[in-house]
Amino acid sequence: MAGERERAVEVLRRASRVVALTGAGMSQESGVPTFRDALTGLWSRYDPMELATPDAFRRNPARVFGWYLSRWRGARTVSPHAGHVALARLEGAFGDFAVVTQNVDGLHRRAGSREIVELHGCLEAFRCFDGGHSFDIDRIEQLAPPEDAEVEPPACDTCGSPIRPGVVWFGETLPAGAVERAWRLVQQSDVVLVIGTSAVVYPAAELPGVALAAGAEVIEINPQETPLTPRATLTWRATAAAALPQLADALGVR
Ligand code: OAD
Repeated sequence: MAGERERAVEVLRRASRVVALTGAGMSQESGVPTFRDALTGLWSRYDPMELATPDAFRRNPARVFGWYLSRWRGARTVSPHAGHVALARLEGAFGDFAVVTQNVDGLHRRAGSREIVELHGCLEAFRCFDGGHSFDIDRIEQLAPPEDAEVEPPACDTCGSPIRPGVVWFGETLPAGAVERAWRLVQQSDVVLVIGTSAVVYPAAELPGVALAAGAEVIEINPQETPLTPRATLTWRATAAAALPQLADALGVR
């Protein structure tokens, strides 16, 4: 463990442009479940094809809307952990530092990170299904379902289309601006920290390879092996909350 930490610090000391690519494991120690961990992952308990596709919403909007309301409420009841805070602190250690996240829970923002690219959208940003018109979050607040209850989505004031969560579902394209920004950041980076992602969902899973091809070093922080592990410059087998504060401390950032 100490060797991995020292090597990671050494690589980061040489860097001036750094990107942190985060996935569900980043928020696990805040109490947000991951997707693919056996037993505890959301996709071991729920079928993503029934909850996280446009067709699923068309078939059963109340089921999908209610499930995302539960997730949104869950994300609001948890807090960023020391690893999120350490990433926000690391912004001060480099000329350029950005977080590119697949997470929709808003915890990086709440921890104080400022440069954030949300590749899969955000649980706080509801909009209508057909027209993409935004919907006031305060009105979502008034809907209070018990855990996972079905909730009929409200209708858009502008076009009447049902309101959906502002996240990216399977089969949908990622927000264009976010994709362009993420690719540019990674191509220009010296180091990419890949934290808490199984690195299997594309196109986000391409980013470490894009970084390596552009000559960057890739440091993986994950307690488990992933498809990225054999290609990473180094892997630190640790959790986000354990590893990231050690990096921020070693690099001397408050
Ligand atoms: P996954 O659930 O696929 O992977 C979570 C990863 O985090 C695994 O590799 C775990 O080993 C690791 N992990 C678990 N606890 C950790 C901890 N405390 N610290 C560090 N790592 C830890 O989640 P993602 O890779 O984020 O997309 O999944 C990618 C996308 O698939 C999600 O954004 C979501 C999902 O379907 C959509 O919903 C579109």
